[in-house]
Amino acid sequence: MSENGLLTVAGLSKLFPVKKRTYSLRVRNFIHAVDGLSFSVERGEVFGLVGESGCGKTTTGKLIVKLLDPTAGAVLLGGENTASIRRGKPLRAFRRRVQMIFQDPYESLNPRFTVFDTVAEPLVVQNRHSVAERERAVAEILVAVGLAPPETFMFRFPHELSGGQRQRVSIARAMVIHPDFVAADEPTSMLDVSIRAGIMELLLGLRADLGVSYLYITHDLAVARYMCNRIGVMYLGKIVELGPAEEVVQNSLHPYTQALIASVPVPDPTYHRQPGEIKGDVAAPIDPPARCRFYPRCPRGDKQCEEVSHPPLDELQPGHFVACYKASAQSRG
Ligand SMILES: Nc1ncnc2c1ncn2[C@@H]1O[C@H](COP(=O)(O)OP(=O)(O)OP(=O)(O)O)[C@@H](O)[C@H]1O
Ligand SMILES: [Mg+2]
Repeated sequence: MSENGLLTVAGLSKLFPVKKRTYSLRVRNFIHAVDGLSFSVERGEVFGLVGESGCGKTTTGKLIVKLLDPTAGAVLLGGENTASIRRGKPLRAFRRRVQMIFQDPYESLNPRFTVFDTVAEPLVVQNRHSVAERERAVAEILVAVGLAPPETFMFRFPHELSGGQRQRVSIARAMVIHPDFVAADEPTSMLDVSIRAGIMELLLGLRADLGVSYLYITHDLAVARYMCNRIGVMYLGKIVELGPAEEVVQNSLHPYTQALIASVPVPDPTYHRQPGEIKGDVAAPIDPPARCRFYPRCPRGDKQCEEVSHPPLDELQPGHFVACYKASAQSRG
């Protein structure tokens, strides 16, 4: 994987302790929410993280933007390890470069803040701008996110806005300081289907205009295909397939990715789906066995998969990585 990416995640892990019994003092079990993740996002790139609920997408986003501390591994920004950034000036400088957009535009906005207060807040935190500069920056970014003319939105409160307008305010807030990197966590999944495309177009337009890179988190492979240059498919805290978006969708090599593709709705009422190959449900990865995480649901798994540790990402095509012993064996003939 590229060494000179804008943002590099190296062996990133996050364990959450789970208490089995409330009276037990010792915490014995851990949810392996993110488990040894490695990938790199290039400047100007949209890198997608795709996977089912609970696979660790949001946790990964929060680790990257430093809303959570990792259990192991590192996040590098411009080649520099961000681990020592904790508070004060270094954290402010980090926030100037890295922002996050959240899934729920109803929860992520302070109901007592006007649009102006919300969008200006990152500038206030940075404490580097005059009042006039702040007003100009807020007005400019509101126009850029499609809330124009800005005067008609600046002094409204969240309850006076639609869901789509709220998400545009969240995007304006993330973009007002012109960050290099934004983690967008399912930014359209809480919105009405009819307005999702507009938000996706907006994010792609901002990338072109502001030169920002995204980690784009979604459970929807079709959305990832549309939005992203490259995709990492996650399963229970692990990336199981990673590569160029079209390649991962058209030529998927991991049985989990193949199952995800097979479950995408087909807009044809006469189409009858083949019975799914994939067995069972996702369980929370509490102290998972060393073997392949996907083994219990895999249609191709065998004794080897059960007995050896989770497969490493293997580059089967240039830039196309797959963590599956069977796929690796097949590609080597
Ligand atoms: N603060 C926490 N404490 C304990 N467990 C947590 C915490 N946050 C997340 N988890 C667990 O970690 C795993 C990954 O959660 P995460 O929210 O990252 O998944 P996700 O892929 O974003 O899912 P979704 O698609 O539902 O948003 C889940 O099993 C979840 O229950
Ligand atoms: Mg999530």
